Amino acid sequence: MLLSMTEPTTIAPATGRLGILTPGLGAVSSTFIAGVISARKGLAPPIGSVSQMAHIRLGARDEDRNPLIREFVPLAELDDIVFGGWDPISANVLEAARTCGVLEERDLAPISSELEGIVAMDAVFDQRWVKKLEGTRVKTMTSKWEQAQALIDDIERFRTENECDRLVVVWCGSTEAYQEASAVHDTVAAFEQGLKDNDDNISPSQIYAYAALSSEVPFANGAPNLSVDLPCMLELAATRGVPIAGKDFKTGQTLMKTMLAPGFKARMLGLRGWYSTNILGNRDGEVLDDPENFKTKEVSKLGVLDAILQPESYPDLYGNIDHVVRINYYPPRGDNKEGWDAIDIFGWLGYPMQIKVDFLCRDSILAAPIVLDLALFLDLAHRAGQSGVQEWLSFYLKAPQAAGEAGAEHDLFIQQTKLKNTLREWMGEQPVTHSEAG
Ligand SMILES: NC(=O)c1ccc[n+]([C@@H]2O[C@H](COP(=O)([O-])OP(=O)(O)OC[C@H]3O[C@@H](n4cnc5c(N)ncnc54)[C@H](O)[C@@H]3O)[C@@H](O)[C@H]2O)c1
Repeated sequence: MLLSMTEPTTIAPATGRLGILTPGLGAVSSTFIAGVISARKGLAPPIGSVSQMAHIRLGARDEDRNPLIREFVPLAELDDIVFGGWDPISANVLEAARTCGVLEERDLAPISSELEGIVAMDAVFDQRWVKKLEGTRVKTMTSKWEQAQALIDDIERFRTENECDRLVVVWCGSTEAYQEASAVHDTVAAFEQGLKDNDDNISPSQIYAYAALSSEVPFANGAPNLSVDLPCMLELAATRGVPIAGKDFKTGQTLMKTMLAPGFKARMLGLRGWYSTNILGNRDGEVLDDPENFKTKEVSKLGVLDAILQPESYPDLYGNIDHVVRINYYPPRGDNKEGWDAIDIFGWLGYPMQIKVDFLCRDSILAAPIVLDLALFLDLAHRAGQSGVQEWLSFYLKAPQAAGEAGAEHDLFIQQTKLKNTLREWMGEQPVTHSEAG
């Protein structure tokens, strides 16, 4: 809930250390950690991070006030971040980075001892949810309730051993098999009973989410599976006063889609079809090769166009769209995926036109700064007394959670305005409306 536009929100200072914990130490999280460590050693700027690199205009254009976001709002400093995580396969972050092959040895070598020192905690893992992976570094207790308690203990141990003032959890684990919410997800009481009964409908990512929120630690979900977008987690976030955000990092093809589609709509150009296909060869691609895991991703990717184009308001332009998304596992590409979009648009008198996009993308290079921003902004929101779904962070997410009934906003440019205006409001500045007077 936002407060008045002129009264600044009280935000506790970012003193002490911030622990960022990632369930999943794979391509995205190792690239994120390596990038932050490189940035704080001055080896590379944190490119792609809005929290670190973007400026924010304040007041009217002629006031010439345009500070960096990180100088405008009290964010944790990169030097104050401590990293940790869980993984059923990777032993430590250096091993994870070398296995996934996103960063080259010349970038890993100067920071290899720091990366090696970030050792994975044993994961809560169940192959039923990720058929393609064999986990070995896994907690041995079979009761889901005991697994949740073990994660809560991990979180507390990490907090104490690393002398952290605050923690944030960002799910960077594999995409879990497709699932719809069931009765066990209705309330916290039902979920806790489900943990005790080892209910089949409770996935590992939900156990992490429960553990984090119970420990009053903000949680963001970078994958498309259900975790904090469940009634029980919304209830827990509200009662514990914890901010949450989900889901599915907006990188690659969907980032392109949410840049291009608002442009077509702004010009009132019609859309007849959008065929998106991808080849990728990393562990994520291997997991998504299983139809049940792909279905989770497909649902997350397909919602975007309808939400931006509003076919119910524009039936002539967007009432008949064929939207297809394919992902193929193709090992030679590794993490450097290729995403093709064949876009069929139409203009004046209905004449058709085609656009082809071939994005030779590096997924984890695009995702890493998102992990950083989500963690820093969730920590800010927590210190600002916010709880529940942080819609202003939808900028970073492919299938953003909405706080109310109105549905989520997908248009990248509206999302950006919302993010910046939220920061302005919290700091007692007027929102920028881009009107003639502003
Ligand atoms: N790379 C991107 O641009 C991008 C974009 C959007 C979403 N995502 C999502 O982010 C997640 C991470 O992507 P990635 O490319 O790093 O994948 P990855 O396969 O390299 O890493 C995922 C890691 O999670 C681990 N894992 C699986 N189950 C776990 C569990 N129960 N507990 C802890 N760890 C577990 C795996 O062992 C693996 O090391 C995936 O769900 C992916 O779909 C990635």
